Amino acid sequence: MSKQRFSMTGISEPKFAQAHLCEPILRLLPEWFGIEAAIVHYVYEIDQLPTLLAYNQAQVAGFLSIKQHSEFAAEIYVMAVHPKFHRQGIGHQLVEVAEEKLRKQGIEYLQVKTLSASHPDQYYARTRAFYRSVGFRPLEEFPELWKGIPCLQMVKCL
Ligand SMILES: CC(C)(COP(=O)(O)OP(=O)(O)OC[C@H]1O[C@@H](n2cnc3c(N)ncnc32)[C@H](O)[C@@H]1OP(=O)(O)O)[C@@H](O)C(=O)NCCC(=O)NCCS
Repeated sequence: MSKQRFSMTGISEPKFAQAHLCEPILRLLPEWFGIEAAIVHYVYEIDQLPTLLAYNQAQVAGFLSIKQHSEFAAEIYVMAVHPKFHRQGIGHQLVEVAEEKLRKQGIEYLQVKTLSASHPDQYYARTRAFYRSVGFRPLEEFPELWKGIPCLQMVKCL
């Protein structure tokens, strides 16, 4: 039997002030977003960043926030998909739509920072597998950027 894929109403245009729609998804993913202070920080940042929302009918099923660093470079600052919809292609579609928009703006390099494989967390191993699957490649590890939590910078050319 073929795998169920996501049939969604669509992905929104990037908008600011979307954190109230993203926070419930962060809170459904305690294995990734389990520290209250980190959630509060993400919520603050998401409101300041252009954020794409993926909808399944009227329900927000996932989001992706973009931080632009220069005229050529941007970052997926944070993204998450409602756990009910994992492995149905939503994350892939969010990245694809974000990349299309960034390319049109002249962005050439996209980065993401995530937990490095030198940390044993099994959940972030899945996150790295996802980023690899959408074309990101490990560039450099920063052991102290996140105060003792090893950070892996992954990049992709657009
Ligand atoms: C990472 C995340 C955004 C991916 O979204 P998703 O909609 O589940 O991903 P997709 O269905 O588009 O997956 C695309 C491909 O990525 C890879 N992938 C995704 N999840 C994976 C997992 N758990 N294990 C291994 N590979 C995985 C697969 O190759 C997958 O393709 P396939 O399903 O055809 O094999 C989502 O799982 C999530 O919200 N995770 C928790 C939060 C997080 O890690 N956020 C990013 C850090 S800020």
